[in-house]
Amino acid sequence: MTIRNLDDLLAEGVSGRRVLVRADLNVPLDKQTGDITDDGRIRAVLPTLSALVQAGAKVVVCSHLGRPKGAPDPQFSLRPVAGRLGELLGAPVHFAEDTVGDSARSTVADLADGQVALLENLRFNKGETSKDDAERGAFADQLAAFGDAYVDDAFGAVHRKHASVHDVPARLPHYAGRLVLREVEVLSRLTGSPERPYVVVLGGSKVSDKLAVIEALLPTVDRLLIGGGMCFTFLKAQGHEVGTSLLEKDMVETCRNLMERAPGKIMLPVDVVVADAFAPDAAHDTVPADGIPSHRLGLDIGPETVAGFAAALSQAKTVFWNGPMGVFEMAAFANGTRGVAEAITKADAFSVVGGGDSAAAVRALGLDESSFGHISTGGGASLEYLEGKTLPGIAALEN
Ligand code: 3PG
Ligand code: MG
Repeated sequence: MTIRNLDDLLAEGVSGRRVLVRADLNVPLDKQTGDITDDGRIRAVLPTLSALVQAGAKVVVCSHLGRPKGAPDPQFSLRPVAGRLGELLGAPVHFAEDTVGDSARSTVADLADGQVALLENLRFNKGETSKDDAERGAFADQLAAFGDAYVDDAFGAVHRKHASVHDVPARLPHYAGRLVLREVEVLSRLTGSPERPYVVVLGGSKVSDKLAVIEALLPTVDRLLIGGGMCFTFLKAQGHEVGTSLLEKDMVETCRNLMERAPGKIMLPVDVVVADAFAPDAAHDTVPADGIPSHRLGLDIGPETVAGFAAALSQAKTVFWNGPMGVFEMAAFANGTRGVAEAITKADAFSVVGGGDSAAAVRALGLDESSFGHISTGGGASLEYLEGKTLPGIAALEN
């Protein structure tokens, strides 16, 4: 199974040809102002876009943003992204007001060689995410009409069986973009034979979201460190009371089984920061993990836990981290995430940060991105890759 990539396409020559690029420009926006709060995903696709521009292609970019419900919804418009993309490319990006309608058709038709257009949000169309093959196929036909070739550089969306990811490549000569190629290359180092000790740090709010990856990783890893909202279900399974912290009651038994299956592998917090409320200015204290008061909720891991996790990380040769350790968006509850992130950067290890939230945390906390081996643009996609699942977007490129 070989995947043709951007270099193969460039070697064929793209001058004057229309290249449809699926990107993942699903960036976080400020709820009040609508401003882009983290443009990491836009930057990540620049190498592919710049190469196509330089080679004289007519570049038609498409993406989703957020989860609109199959119809136009102004809060999810890609217009601000077109502006930012243009700034970063150093040339204006022509924005189409719709995805496959009149505006898109004329925008694409008017493109000169070396120019870039961005289509409006793919998910403003039912066909993009439809479970019905024919409905998705019909939409894919319309999209495919905008390209003579297709490049997938939307690593964050390769786990979605969506028209632009799964069905368009069946209709056009298809290639992996630079970002998709690099992501797969790096993640395959983790699923192959990673250098040991291999330490995985998982956070985020729900065990249920991470269960499949925990199941898949448990036999492979040397250490699994668990923080974030999901640690409270594990602490409960250990027999501790967790106050009003996040708790998935129906997962407690599952957590107990996981810990029994791999004795000593799973490390849980020994202390946590508890607060009176989920608020940046809530009164808070650090307490032992077996001493969470009944009326308080845990919002971060404590300093002793950070020290323990840091010790485990300092031994590691390979690290994968997904999910914040606490509510890092609030300064009072950011120390756990910061401490663990710093420990990862200090370890003499090949480190991969997976997940939109952890990547955003790295940047929001002002950490040096270059001190990590790789920061993935994919959240669900990187987890599903590590689970060993077939990713529809990658499978489509292999055919
Ligand atoms: C993400 O942010 O995880 C990707 O852009 C995919 O988005 P989705 O989870 O809404 O499909
Ligand atoms: Mg997601």
